[in-house]
Amino acid sequence: MIDVHTHILPALDDGARTQEEAALLMEMEEKQGVKEVVFTPHYYGKKRSLEQFLVLREEAWSKLRPYMPSGVKKRLGAEVHLTGVNDPSDDALCALSIEGTSCVLVEFPFYTKWPKSLFVRLSRFIADTGYTPIVAHAERYRELLKNPSVATRLVEMGCLIQLNTRAFLEKTTRRFAFAMLKNGLVHCLGTDTHDTDSRAPDYQAARETVYAAGYGDKWQRVQTCMRDILDKRRVRQAYKPVRKFFCRYF
Ligand SMILES: [Fe+2]
Repeated sequence: MIDVHTHILPALDDGARTQEEAALLMEMEEKQGVKEVVFTPHYYGKKRSLEQFLVLREEAWSKLRPYMPSGVKKRLGAEVHLTGVNDPSDDALCALSIEGTSCVLVEFPFYTKWPKSLFVRLSRFIADTGYTPIVAHAERYRELLKNPSVATRLVEMGCLIQLNTRAFLEKTTRRFAFAMLKNGLVHCLGTDTHDTDSRAPDYQAARETVYAAGYGDKWQRVQTCMRDILDKRRVRQAYKPVRKFFCRYF
């Protein structure tokens, strides 16, 4: 299994605080059957320059490297915050893509309405660079929970969608997560793990839940999709548009 969204690199963002905690998180990932992990520390643009971020990310990786389980591969990446206003440049976004790929993990505002400028920015970025944004933790946005058809719009625009494994386990997001999975609108999974406590990796539990619900084939499809992304193959899309409301959390 592949985890494309984690905050394991030590002392870089609000994720793992120490080398020891990062090592423990990697152990947990390995025990749960994860074979490849993408490290995606937050990148907010205003806080640090791109150059500073890349240097600090390299330093954090070198601290974790000696503790990496031998059966788990790593890739460096970032979770880039986009709002549609004063966002990082195209060059910065490309530099923050997942190592060895032309995909970049992006997150949007959780609770506020997404401005038109955000969609314009995304489609220009895709057209001008040929890179693919992966929308992080789709289940956490008010915009998508209120109106899942926006997910179809993002995919039609050329984005891919990532769900957190926790989305299948929590009451408030379960229906949304399964509906997205059933409709072929999930391309990536990530634990978004930050610590060994309340945000520990839960990949195994999510896998069991999805298999128990009878969607093992869809789960497997997402794993294949992530493999294709990391191996730079074209992602085979087969989704049904979601136009109706199926979640009324907000
Ligand atoms: Fe995250």
